[in-house]
Amino acid sequence: MSNLQTVHNGLGAPNRKLNQFGDYEDVTNMSVDDWDYRWSLNQTKFHMPKVHPMLQKYIDKLLNGKKRQTVFVALCGKTLDMKWLLDQGHEVVGNECVDSACRQFFEENNIPYTSHSLDGVDGALYTATDGSPIKLYRCDCFELPKVMKEKVSCIWDRGGFVALPVKERSRYALTLRAIMKNDCRYLLDCFLLDNSKFGGPPFNCDEKDVKQAFETFCKIEKLETRDAFTKWQESWGISSFVEEVYLLHPK
Ligand SMILES: C[S@@+](CC[C@H](N)C(=O)[O-])C[C@H]1O[C@@H](n2cnc3c(N)ncnc32)[C@H](O)[C@@H]1O
Repeated sequence: MSNLQTVHNGLGAPNRKLNQFGDYEDVTNMSVDDWDYRWSLNQTKFHMPKVHPMLQKYIDKLLNGKKRQTVFVALCGKTLDMKWLLDQGHEVVGNECVDSACRQFFEENNIPYTSHSLDGVDGALYTATDGSPIKLYRCDCFELPKVMKEKVSCIWDRGGFVALPVKERSRYALTLRAIMKNDCRYLLDCFLLDNSKFGGPPFNCDEKDVKQAFETFCKIEKLETRDAFTKWQESWGISSFVEEVYLLHPK
Protein backbone atom coordinates (compact mmCIF):
# COMPACT_ATOMS: atom_id res chain seq x y z
CA MET A 1 0.00 0.00 0.00
CA SER A 2 1.79 3.08 -1.11
CA ASN A 3 -0.69 5.29 -2.95
CA LEU A 4 -1.26 8.34 -0.83
CA GLN A 5 -4.64 9.75 -1.71
CA THR A 6 -4.51 13.43 -2.45
CA VAL A 7 -7.50 15.38 -3.67
CA HIS A 8 -7.07 19.01 -4.68
CA ASN A 9 -9.66 21.47 -3.53
CA GLY A 10 -9.21 23.86 -6.43
CA LEU A 11 -7.28 26.39 -4.34
CA GLY A 12 -4.00 24.59 -4.78
CA ALA A 13 -4.00 23.06 -1.31
CA PRO A 14 -4.15 19.27 -1.13
CA ASN A 15 -7.28 17.98 0.52
CA ARG A 16 -6.46 14.53 1.87
CA LYS A 17 -9.22 12.06 2.53
CA LEU A 18 -9.22 9.93 5.62
CA ASN A 19 -10.04 6.25 5.11
CA GLN A 20 -11.77 3.78 7.42
CA PHE A 21 -8.41 2.55 8.69
CA GLY A 22 -7.48 5.96 10.06
CA ASP A 23 -4.86 6.98 7.50
CA TYR A 24 -4.75 8.61 4.10
CA GLU A 25 -3.86 5.71 1.81
CA ASP A 26 -5.97 5.49 -1.33
CA VAL A 27 -8.26 2.54 -0.58
CA THR A 28 -10.51 2.80 -3.62
CA ASN A 29 -8.87 -0.24 -5.20
CA MET A 30 -7.97 -2.53 -2.34
CA SER A 31 -6.54 -5.89 -3.36
CA VAL A 32 -6.60 -9.12 -1.39
CA ASP A 33 -3.05 -8.29 -0.21
CA ASP A 34 -4.20 -4.87 0.99
CA TRP A 35 -6.92 -6.50 3.12
CA ASP A 36 -4.38 -8.98 4.43
CA TYR A 37 -2.21 -6.04 5.47
CA ARG A 38 -5.12 -4.33 7.29
CA TRP A 39 -5.97 -7.54 9.13
CA SER A 40 -2.29 -7.95 10.11
CA LEU A 41 -2.50 -4.51 11.76
CA ASN A 42 -5.80 -5.43 13.47
CA GLN A 43 -7.48 -2.59 11.60
CA THR A 44 -10.81 -4.37 11.74
CA LYS A 45 -13.09 -1.87 13.41
CA PHE A 46 -15.77 -2.95 10.90
CA HIS A 47 -16.05 -6.17 12.93
CA MET A 48 -19.08 -5.86 15.19
CA PRO A 49 -19.12 -7.30 18.73
CA LYS A 50 -22.74 -8.38 18.22
CA VAL A 51 -25.00 -9.93 15.63
CA HIS A 52 -26.02 -7.49 12.93
CA PRO A 53 -29.48 -6.06 13.74
CA MET A 54 -30.58 -6.08 10.09
CA LEU A 55 -29.83 -9.79 9.75
CA GLN A 56 -31.92 -10.48 12.85
CA LYS A 57 -34.69 -8.16 11.71
CA TYR A 58 -35.00 -9.57 8.20
CA ILE A 59 -34.07 -13.21 8.72
CA ASP A 60 -37.64 -14.33 7.97
CA LYS A 61 -37.62 -12.48 4.66
CA LEU A 62 -34.28 -14.06 3.84
CA LEU A 63 -35.54 -17.54 4.67
CA ASN A 64 -38.85 -17.03 2.88
CA GLY A 65 -40.69 -19.50 5.11
CA LYS A 66 -38.02 -22.20 4.89
CA LYS A 67 -36.36 -23.71 7.95
CA ARG A 68 -32.80 -25.01 7.63
CA GLN A 69 -31.05 -23.27 4.79
CA THR A 70 -27.55 -22.87 3.42
CA VAL A 71 -26.66 -19.25 4.06
CA PHE A 72 -23.73 -17.80 2.18
CA VAL A 73 -22.03 -14.98 4.10
CA ALA A 74 -20.25 -12.80 1.57
CA LEU A 75 -16.84 -11.31 2.41
CA CYS A 76 -17.47 -12.59 5.89
CA GLY A 77 -14.44 -11.52 7.94
CA LYS A 78 -15.02 -13.16 11.32
CA THR A 79 -18.54 -11.87 11.76
CA LEU A 80 -20.56 -13.21 14.68
CA ASP A 81 -23.49 -13.40 12.27
CA MET A 82 -22.10 -16.78 11.18
CA LYS A 83 -22.19 -18.20 14.70
CA TRP A 84 -25.73 -16.88 15.14
CA LEU A 85 -26.85 -18.50 11.87
CA LEU A 86 -25.32 -21.80 13.00
CA ASP A 87 -27.13 -21.51 16.33
CA GLN A 88 -30.39 -20.99 14.40
CA GLY A 89 -29.83 -24.38 12.72
CA HIS A 90 -28.58 -23.21 9.34
CA GLU A 91 -25.63 -24.34 7.32
CA VAL A 92 -23.10 -21.55 6.78
CA VAL A 93 -20.80 -21.07 3.84
CA GLY A 94 -18.54 -18.06 4.14
CA ASN A 95 -16.01 -16.42 1.89
CA GLU A 96 -13.09 -14.36 3.08
CA CYS A 97 -9.74 -13.65 1.44
CA VAL A 98 -7.65 -13.38 4.62
CA ASP A 99 -6.41 -16.52 6.36
CA SER A 100 -6.10 -15.00 9.83
CA ALA A 101 -9.72 -13.79 9.67
CA CYS A 102 -10.90 -17.36 8.99
CA ARG A 103 -8.76 -18.77 11.77
CA GLN A 104 -9.88 -16.11 14.24
CA PHE A 105 -13.52 -16.92 13.51
CA PHE A 106 -13.08 -20.57 14.49
CA GLU A 107 -10.77 -19.89 17.42
CA GLU A 108 -12.80 -17.07 18.97
CA ASN A 109 -15.97 -19.15 18.73
CA ASN A 110 -14.32 -22.30 20.08
CA ILE A 111 -15.07 -24.34 16.99
CA PRO A 112 -12.29 -26.83 16.21
CA TYR A 113 -11.29 -26.70 12.56
CA THR A 114 -9.05 -27.93 9.83
CA SER A 115 -8.10 -26.54 6.44
CA HIS A 116 -6.84 -27.77 3.14
CA SER A 117 -5.80 -25.97 0.01
CA LEU A 118 -8.24 -25.44 -2.81
CA ASP A 119 -7.63 -27.01 -6.20
CA GLY A 120 -6.67 -24.64 -8.96
CA VAL A 121 -6.90 -21.35 -7.06
CA ASP A 122 -4.87 -19.62 -4.39
CA GLY A 123 -6.98 -20.45 -1.36
CA ALA A 124 -8.03 -22.85 1.37
CA LEU A 125 -11.20 -24.46 2.62
CA TYR A 126 -11.72 -24.19 6.37
CA THR A 127 -14.13 -26.70 7.88
CA ALA A 128 -15.24 -27.51 11.43
CA THR A 129 -14.09 -30.83 12.85
CA ASP A 130 -16.88 -31.10 15.43
CA GLY A 131 -19.64 -31.51 12.86
CA SER A 132 -20.74 -27.86 12.89
CA PRO A 133 -22.12 -27.21 9.40
CA ILE A 134 -19.80 -24.37 8.47
CA LYS A 135 -17.13 -23.95 5.87
CA LEU A 136 -15.17 -20.87 4.90
CA TYR A 137 -13.66 -20.49 1.47
CA ARG A 138 -10.50 -18.47 1.94
CA CYS A 139 -9.98 -17.03 -1.52
CA ASP A 140 -10.67 -14.03 -3.69
CA CYS A 141 -14.47 -13.93 -4.06
CA PHE A 142 -14.15 -13.83 -7.84
CA GLU A 143 -12.70 -17.36 -7.74
CA LEU A 144 -15.75 -18.79 -5.95
CA PRO A 145 -17.59 -20.21 -8.99
CA LYS A 146 -14.48 -22.26 -9.76
CA VAL A 147 -14.27 -23.85 -6.31
CA MET A 148 -17.75 -23.91 -4.79
CA LYS A 149 -19.54 -27.16 -5.49
CA GLU A 150 -22.81 -26.12 -3.90
CA LYS A 151 -25.28 -23.39 -4.78
CA VAL A 152 -26.88 -21.43 -1.99
CA SER A 153 -30.44 -20.53 -1.05
CA CYS A 154 -29.65 -17.41 1.00
CA ILE A 155 -26.98 -14.73 0.89
CA TRP A 156 -26.18 -12.22 3.63
CA ASP A 157 -23.95 -9.36 2.54
CA ARG A 158 -22.83 -6.78 5.07
CA GLY A 159 -19.66 -5.00 4.01
CA GLY A 160 -19.14 -7.00 0.80
CA PHE A 161 -20.71 -5.16 -2.11
CA VAL A 162 -19.96 -1.79 -0.48
CA ALA A 163 -16.33 -2.65 0.39
CA LEU A 164 -15.18 -3.91 -3.00
CA PRO A 165 -13.81 -1.43 -5.53
CA VAL A 166 -16.80 0.26 -7.20
CA LYS A 167 -15.56 -0.78 -10.66
CA GLU A 168 -15.88 -4.45 -9.56
CA ARG A 169 -19.57 -4.28 -8.63
CA SER A 170 -20.99 -5.77 -11.83
CA ARG A 171 -18.40 -8.52 -11.82
CA TYR A 172 -19.22 -9.27 -8.18
CA ALA A 173 -22.94 -9.39 -9.00
CA LEU A 174 -22.32 -11.93 -11.77
CA THR A 175 -20.12 -13.96 -9.42
CA LEU A 176 -22.88 -14.12 -6.83
CA ARG A 177 -25.46 -15.02 -9.46
CA ALA A 178 -23.28 -18.00 -10.38
CA ILE A 179 -23.58 -19.43 -6.87
CA MET A 180 -27.29 -18.63 -6.33
CA LYS A 181 -29.97 -21.27 -6.57
CA ASN A 182 -32.84 -20.05 -8.71
CA ASP A 183 -34.95 -19.48 -5.60
CA CYS A 184 -32.12 -17.80 -3.67
CA ARG A 185 -32.79 -14.67 -1.61
CA TYR A 186 -30.07 -12.13 -1.05
CA LEU A 187 -30.11 -9.62 1.82
CA LEU A 188 -27.85 -6.69 0.97
CA ASP A 189 -26.79 -3.98 3.42
CA CYS A 190 -25.69 -0.69 1.80
CA PHE A 191 -24.84 2.88 2.74
CA LEU A 192 -25.37 6.35 1.41
CA LEU A 193 -22.37 8.53 2.21
CA ASP A 194 -20.16 11.21 0.74
CA ASN A 195 -16.94 9.65 -0.55
CA SER A 196 -15.72 13.05 -1.75
CA LYS A 197 -15.05 13.73 1.95
CA PHE A 198 -14.27 10.23 3.24
CA GLY A 199 -12.04 7.77 1.40
CA GLY A 200 -13.93 4.61 2.36
CA PRO A 201 -14.60 1.77 2.59
CA PRO A 202 -17.59 1.66 2.53
CA PHE A 203 -18.33 3.20 -0.82
CA ASN A 204 -21.61 4.95 -1.48
CA CYS A 205 -24.30 2.70 -2.89
CA ASP A 206 -27.71 4.03 -3.84
CA GLU A 207 -30.62 2.26 -5.50
CA LYS A 208 -29.33 3.16 -8.95
CA ASP A 209 -26.03 1.40 -8.14
CA VAL A 210 -27.83 -1.72 -6.93
CA LYS A 211 -29.97 -1.74 -10.07
CA GLN A 212 -26.99 -1.21 -12.32
CA ALA A 213 -25.24 -4.26 -10.89
CA PHE A 214 -28.17 -6.64 -10.42
CA GLU A 215 -31.28 -5.57 -12.29
CA THR A 216 -30.70 -7.66 -15.41
CA PHE A 217 -31.04 -10.88 -13.45
CA CYS A 218 -32.52 -10.02 -10.03
CA LYS A 219 -35.70 -8.50 -8.69
CA ILE A 220 -34.83 -5.80 -6.18
CA GLU A 221 -36.90 -4.69 -3.20
CA LYS A 222 -35.77 -1.96 -0.81
CA LEU A 223 -36.70 -3.01 2.72
CA GLU A 224 -35.47 -0.13 4.83
CA THR A 225 -33.71 3.21 4.95
CA ARG A 226 -32.44 4.46 8.29
CA ASP A 227 -30.08 7.01 9.76
CA ALA A 228 -26.96 5.07 10.85
CA PHE A 229 -24.74 8.02 11.72
CA THR A 230 -22.62 7.46 14.85
CA LYS A 231 -19.50 8.92 16.44
CA TRP A 232 -17.43 6.62 14.24
CA GLN A 233 -18.81 8.16 11.05
CA GLU A 234 -18.45 11.62 12.58
CA SER A 235 -14.74 10.86 13.02
CA TRP A 236 -14.57 10.18 9.26
CA GLY A 237 -15.43 13.83 8.59
CA ILE A 238 -18.87 13.21 7.11
CA SER A 239 -22.17 14.50 8.42
CA SER A 240 -24.59 11.92 7.09
CA PHE A 241 -24.53 8.13 6.94
CA VAL A 242 -27.66 6.28 5.89
CA GLU A 243 -28.10 2.52 5.85
CA GLU A 244 -30.29 0.89 3.23
CA VAL A 245 -31.29 -2.76 3.15
CA TYR A 246 -32.36 -4.58 -0.01
CA LEU A 247 -33.80 -7.99 -0.72
CA LEU A 248 -32.89 -9.46 -4.10
CA HIS A 249 -33.83 -12.67 -5.81
CA PRO A 250 -33.19 -14.08 -9.26
CA LYS A 251 -35.82 -13.24 -11.90
C1 LIG B 1 -15.79 -4.46 5.46
S1 LIG B 1 -15.22 -6.07 5.85
C2 LIG B 1 -16.76 -6.85 6.28
C3 LIG B 1 -16.56 -8.16 7.00
C4 LIG B 1 -17.86 -8.82 7.49
N1 LIG B 1 -18.86 -8.98 6.47
C5 LIG B 1 -18.42 -8.11 8.70
O1 LIG B 1 -19.59 -7.69 8.64
O2 LIG B 1 -17.71 -7.98 9.71
C6 LIG B 1 -14.83 -6.75 4.25
C7 LIG B 1 -14.16 -8.11 4.31
O3 LIG B 1 -14.00 -8.62 3.00
C8 LIG B 1 -12.73 -9.21 2.83
N2 LIG B 1 -12.43 -9.08 1.39
C9 LIG B 1 -12.08 -7.97 0.75
N3 LIG B 1 -11.91 -8.21 -0.57
C10 LIG B 1 -12.19 -9.53 -0.75
C11 LIG B 1 -12.21 -10.37 -1.90
N4 LIG B 1 -11.89 -9.91 -3.11
N5 LIG B 1 -12.55 -11.67 -1.73
C12 LIG B 1 -12.87 -12.14 -0.49
N6 LIG B 1 -12.86 -11.39 0.62
C13 LIG B 1 -12.53 -10.09 0.50
C14 LIG B 1 -11.82 -8.41 3.77
O4 LIG B 1 -10.69 -9.12 4.20
C15 LIG B 1 -12.75 -8.08 4.92
O5 LIG B 1 -12.68 -9.04 5.95
